[in-house]
Amino acid sequence: MKIISSKSKLVKFTHYEKKLGLVPTMGAIHQGHISLIKKSITQCEKTIVSIFINKPQFNRKNDFQKYPRPLKNDISILNKFRVDYLYLPSGNQIYPKGKNKNIKISSVGKKLCGKFRPGHFEAVADVIDRFIKIIKPKNIYFGEKDMQQLKIIEHFVKKNHPKTKVIGCKTVRDKSGIALSSRNFLLSIKEKQIASKIYKLIKKNKQNLVKKKLTLGSIKRKIFILGVRKIDYIKILNINKLTKPYERGNKYKIFLAYYLGSTRLIDNI
Ligand code: PAJ
Repeated sequence: MKIISSKSKLVKFTHYEKKLGLVPTMGAIHQGHISLIKKSITQCEKTIVSIFINKPQFNRKNDFQKYPRPLKNDISILNKFRVDYLYLPSGNQIYPKGKNKNIKISSVGKKLCGKFRPGHFEAVADVIDRFIKIIKPKNIYFGEKDMQQLKIIEHFVKKNHPKTKVIGCKTVRDKSGIALSSRNFLLSIKEKQIASKIYKLIKKNKQNLVKKKLTLGSIKRKIFILGVRKIDYIKILNINKLTKPYERGNKYKIFLAYYLGSTRLIDNI
């Protein structure tokens, strides 16, 4: 695996690649990331993974500072999976003149996390726009774990980079049901148990919630009793209305964002 930090060096290598798959990440690589990487490896000639903790997309300074950075371990995992290129740019390389204030994203960006994290999705679209301009990938891979991000980026890339195709990948969970996330590295054993209980509670009651036999208020109360400090949102959304159908047989999903201690977790079930 070639590890490259310089933009111009990277372009020299990737310029001639005809079918390049890009997997953008913020590191602390886990099986969720790996599932995207594996898909890219099967669908593309070469795969490039980026690790870049994109500061502008963080709303809280503390969240950025304590974001896990196990780079050595990440490199050995990516080597094992035979990734072709690892792009590790510095902040200055990506933002030589600061952020782009003219990024326009779809109205999907106004709901859910968009309400609680102003500017977050614009900052994600900004960094993805920059990566696509540098790397010119054929395919770019995103996880359904961050469904709202996936839908916003799908729309953004279709509009601004029609030669690049966005590929969505299923959420990977651990045995206890928790959706894998780099932020899980920050959870205590007790907090992981709570996250697992929340997943199971929603999974078990999903149909009753969708059929309105159960209220979201009652589920919220149960989540608080489990030890959650704050719930940003818990919503039942028709996936068709969010933007377009994902799975025909699975029309509704429960979207939620909540805090365990100071760690914010999101999921859709
Ligand atoms: P990060 O949280 O590192 O996630 C990188 C990619 O992995 C995203 O597309 C995310 O949806 C996917 N992913 C994370 N956990 C997953 C899981 N359990 N199952 C399947 N896919 C999963 O998302 C970001 O970074 C950033 O916003 C980024 C797109 C890199 C822009 O800075």
